[in-house]
Amino acid sequence: MGKIAPSILSADFSRLGEQVAAISRAGADYVHVDVMDGHFVPNISFGSAVMKSLNKLETAPYDVHLMIENPDAYLGDFVTDKTEFIVVHQEACRHLHRTVQNIKAHGVKAGVALNPATPVSALECILEELDLVLVMSVNPGFGGQKFIPKALEKIKELDAIRKEKGYDYVIEIDGGVTLDNISTVSEAGCDIFVAGSAVFKAEDLEKRICEFKNAVPE
Ligand code: DX5
Ligand code: ZN
Repeated sequence: MGKIAPSILSADFSRLGEQVAAISRAGADYVHVDVMDGHFVPNISFGSAVMKSLNKLETAPYDVHLMIENPDAYLGDFVTDKTEFIVVHQEACRHLHRTVQNIKAHGVKAGVALNPATPVSALECILEELDLVLVMSVNPGFGGQKFIPKALEKIKELDAIRKEKGYDYVIEIDGGVTLDNISTVSEAGCDIFVAGSAVFKAEDLEKRICEFKNAVPE
C-alpha cells in the first residue's frame, strides 16, 4: 500500500503549522521531518524544537530523517507521541547496530537511509533488524534535485531480499519524486514516497496530496 510523506523542508516556514495541518487533513500518511546539521550534509535545516512546535496540531505521524553526524546524541530529542520512525544514515553511524537498538529502545521504529553511492549490501547484516529502509534518490542536503534512476534498482533489490528472507521492513524513497515518476517507483516495490518540492510548490496543497494519493496503489 503506497503512503505519502511530504517533506516539510520545502514548506513555507512562515506558515509551517498551517501547511502541515493542511497536508495532514488531506490524507498525507506521514510528516517527513528533514534534519540537517551542516556537517553530514552541506546544509542546515531545523532541529527538534521546530518539530515539537507541531505537536499541538492535528497532524500525521512523524517520519524523522536525521542527516546528522553522531545521531545517537540526539535521538531522544526527536521522540514524541507522534514520532513513528527515526531514520539515520548508514554513512553517519560507526556502530549502526547499536544506533538501531538505541532507536528501538526509545519505543519508535528504526530506519536506515542509504546515500546514492552506498550499495544495499552495506545493510546486509542489519536488514532483519530494520523497520524501514530509505533509498536516497538524490544526494541529501537540498530539496528540488533531480531523481537518480539507479535508486530503482536498489528498491527492486530490497524488495527481492525481503520476499526471499521474510523480512518485514518497509521501503521508502526520498528525492526528486514527482507525479510523473511515482508510479515507476511504486512498481519497483516502494511503500513510502517522500515528496518535498512536488507537494509544497503546489498552489493547492490539499488537491496536490489527493493527486499523489491517487497515483499510488491503495
Ligand atoms: C533531501 C531530503 C529530502 C528532500 C526531498 O536531502 O532528505 O527529503 O526534502 O525534496 P524533493 O522532493 O524536492 O527532492
Ligand atoms: Zn528526507
